[in-house]
Amino acid sequence: MKKKIILTRRWPQAVEDLLCKRYDVEINEHDVPFTRNKMQEAFRSADAVLTTVTDKLESDVFDMSDIRASIIGNYGVGYSHIDIASATARNIVITNTPDVLSECTADIAITLMLMIARRAGEGERELRSGNWNGWRPTHMTGCKVSGKTLGIVGYGRIGQETARRAHHGFGMQISIYNRSEISASVLKENSAVQVDSLESLLQSVDFLSLHCPGGEQNHHLINAAGIKNMKPTAYIINTARGEVIDSDALICALSNNTIAGAGLDVYENEPNLDRRLIDLENTVLLPHLGSATVETREAMGFRVVRNLEQHFTGLSPEDRVG
Ligand code: DGY
Repeated sequence: MKKKIILTRRWPQAVEDLLCKRYDVEINEHDVPFTRNKMQEAFRSADAVLTTVTDKLESDVFDMSDIRASIIGNYGVGYSHIDIASATARNIVITNTPDVLSECTADIAITLMLMIARRAGEGERELRSGNWNGWRPTHMTGCKVSGKTLGIVGYGRIGQETARRAHHGFGMQISIYNRSEISASVLKENSAVQVDSLESLLQSVDFLSLHCPGGEQNHHLINAAGIKNMKPTAYIINTARGEVIDSDALICALSNNTIAGAGLDVYENEPNLDRRLIDLENTVLLPHLGSATVETREAMGFRVVRNLEQHFTGLSPEDRVG
């Protein structure tokens, strides 16, 4: 008998087709996030529940005695939306999709860095609104990116890909802050220097790009005190998780021009972002597009398929995180 699996959102067609060949698949045709009841029903009725970042799997979801699912195949590398301890306490295996999205997420970090420094969003708004009245030497001058210092928080796969682009493409100097020590050979690839404290990183960089996981451990890692230490000409780029930055502190700094700008792809309380961010000219705001290419979104799906296959044949999946 085929295993029953439930997808909480629509996935790329090629991946859905493959899943349908192998499993008894229930697809969320309406593509809106499940309610808590619907999520619990999924865990009761399926062997695998395939989730995404829009599913809030807090401990109460697993507070049932009749769970059938033995695996959560999360579509995405981040899993701070899943209460791992509560799921594993119910003998549920959790997997994610690392590696395949590192390059595209790094591309979006670089996109945001260039857009905010070179005022691309502002420029496009001016042109589309019919307010552009031609070239002049003083028009919309931004900040040069090449040769500047990029600080990276979290030097995992995505952080390293961002550093590679910045260093080899734009001749930037790379400073990193990472909780564990990074080997000399990995640092050497992008001539990166690892600093001991977040404070020293924040005060020395021209651009700060966040690549650490979300969740409790990094909640408001970038706060008012840290932002106050940054250069007034510095920019913050966030493609990690919204909760890593204290949004009130960021908005206050951007409004008072105590930093120069921010390029954001992720937000606290997505998709309901703080209206004040939208009203600021010194922000570039994208709707969580880090992994959003056809190639990557398919690769993420196929990675989940591989994890399921390994799990259902009795192996520990390669991308097991809980
Ligand atoms: C991830 O992979 O965690 C992204 O943020 C969503 O795809």
